[in-house]
This record gives sequence, structure tokens and C-alpha cells, in this order.
Amino acid sequence: MNILITGATSGIGRQLVLDYSKSGHRVYACGRSPDKLEALKKDCGEAEEYVQLLQFDVTDREAVRTTLGSLEQVDLVILNAGVCEYVNELSDFESELFERVFAANYFGVVNCVDALLPKLGAGSRLAIVDSMARLMPFTRAEAYASSKAAVHYLGNSLKVDLAPHGIAVTTISPGFVETPMTDANDFEMPMKITVADASKAIQKGLAKGKAQIYFPRVFGWILRFIHKLPLRLQIAISRRMKNAQ
Ligand SMILES: NC(=O)c1ccc[n+]([C@@H]2O[C@H](COP(=O)([O-])OP(=O)(O)OC[C@H]3O[C@@H](n4cnc5c(N)ncnc54)[C@H](OP(=O)(O)O)[C@@H]3O)[C@@H](O)[C@H]2O)c1
Repeated sequence: MNILITGATSGIGRQLVLDYSKSGHRVYACGRSPDKLEALKKDCGEAEEYVQLLQFDVTDREAVRTTLGSLEQVDLVILNAGVCEYVNELSDFESELFERVFAANYFGVVNCVDALLPKLGAGSRLAIVDSMARLMPFTRAEAYASSKAAVHYLGNSLKVDLAPHGIAVTTISPGFVETPMTDANDFEMPMKITVADASKAIQKGLAKGKAQIYFPRVFGWILRFIHKLPLRLQIAISRRMKNAQ
């Protein structure tokens, strides 16, 4: 398969590049840092020949169009690049923070979909990484989780509109995964898993053609149960968690 992965220079995306290239797939590894991209290619070892590096910032619409516009058909796209910024204090509530988060997590995905739709033929699959954070109203997550809720909706809407063209869409909702992103968190992260396990869960779900992927599984069950509770209960649970921090 020809597989394109954004956010390939760190965490989940990096592990996916290592794993898919070792399995003999041709991987377009996308990142914004040339040094990190070169380091990734070296880390692929003998599978290096299967990896093609593409350097662009997902927030730069023209760069995304120019770089991705030159590709041949792609069988699987995993839009994984993302950032996390919390509204730590109410005094941090500034629209610039929301713009930064949405620029990467929402418009970054939109920019890639815009450029890649002509490259996706019947039988191909588009996967979009959101987050289980979208499932309940967490403290400090006003910007991050709303960007993930928005991109999840985008993915579901695309499921409707791309199906007649034979293009499948998968939304991927991770729980906590040990990466540089979560290394920056200052709170307890229940059921945190390794990037190796996250990559396995994603590869397995995509190979099965799943429309939605949640991992770790038990954390997914718990959060989806909470998501179905009346909002006042969700808020009460979230306030208790905030007070316990
Ligand atoms: N880790 C978790 O617990 C967790 C949970 C739920 C969802 N997720 C989601 O999973 C995805 C991967 O997260 P991760 O934990 O692997 O994070 P990570 O280690 O911080 O990796 C994020 C990747 O996205 C890239 N990126 C960020 N902004 C970009 C931009 N403007 N243009 C191009 N690339 C950009 C980063 O590039 P640089 O290396 O140049 O910074 C990096 O390669 C994210 O969408 C995240 O929200 C993660």
C-alpha cells in the first residue's frame, strides 16, 4: 500500500511510519522539521527505502497543496499531526491560543483533505486522529478538546459524502498514549499506553476496515459510557476530577 502519515516526526505518527515501513508498505512521512524527518528515516534502518519524506507545515495551505499535489494515488491517509495547549488559568483564555490549536488540529486536517481528495480513489481510506478528550467536558481542555470534537464531526460527515466514491473514512480516538505530547501533562493519566501499542491498535483497526477506532479499549468503554450520561452528571464527574488534581 501507499500510506501517507502526517505528524510523522514524533509520538504516534513516528511509530506508525516505523511499523508500516517495516511491513514493506511505501510510506510518505510528513513533518515540518527537516532534521526530525531525516532522523526518522535513519531510524527506519533497512526499511528506509520504503520511506519518502515530505516536509510542510499542515497550517500552511499553499505548502500543503504544492507538496501533496505532486503525489500519485494514495491508498491510506492517516491525518495525525496535532498540538495540545490547555487553558491553564482563566487569564490564559485568549483567542490566539484557540487559533493556534484549531490551525493545526482542525484546519491542518482540512488543508490535507483538500489537497489529498484527488489522490484518493475507490478502495482507499482516509483516517483522522481525534481524541477521547472530545467525549466529555474536561477542565482546561476548552481549545484542545473542541478542536478534536470539530475534527471528529468532520470525519463523520466525510463518511457520508465519500462513501459514494468508494472512499472509506475512519475516525481514530486515542486515550492517553506515552508521547512527547503527554510528557508535558502535569496530571495523572489513567490507562496510558505505549506508542507501540497505540500503533498496533491503529493498524489492526484499519486493517479490519473499522469506521471508528478507540484505544485503549476499556478506557474507550468508560468514556463512551460517561458521554451518554446527562450533561449535568458529566459536568459533576469532571468537577470532581478537577478538584482531585
Ligand atoms: N498522546 C496522546 O495521549 C494522544 C491522545 C489523544 C489524541 N492524540 C492525538 O494524536 C496525534 C499525535 O499525537 P502525539 O501524542 O503523537 O503527539 P506528538 O508526539 O507531539 O506528535 C505530534 C506530531 O504532530 C506534528 N505537528 C504538530 N503541528 C504541526 C504542524 N503545524 N505541521 C506539521 N506537523 C505538525 C509534530 O511535529 P513536530 O515534531 O515538528 O512538533 C509531531 O510530529 C495528535 O493529533 C494528538 O492530538 C494523542
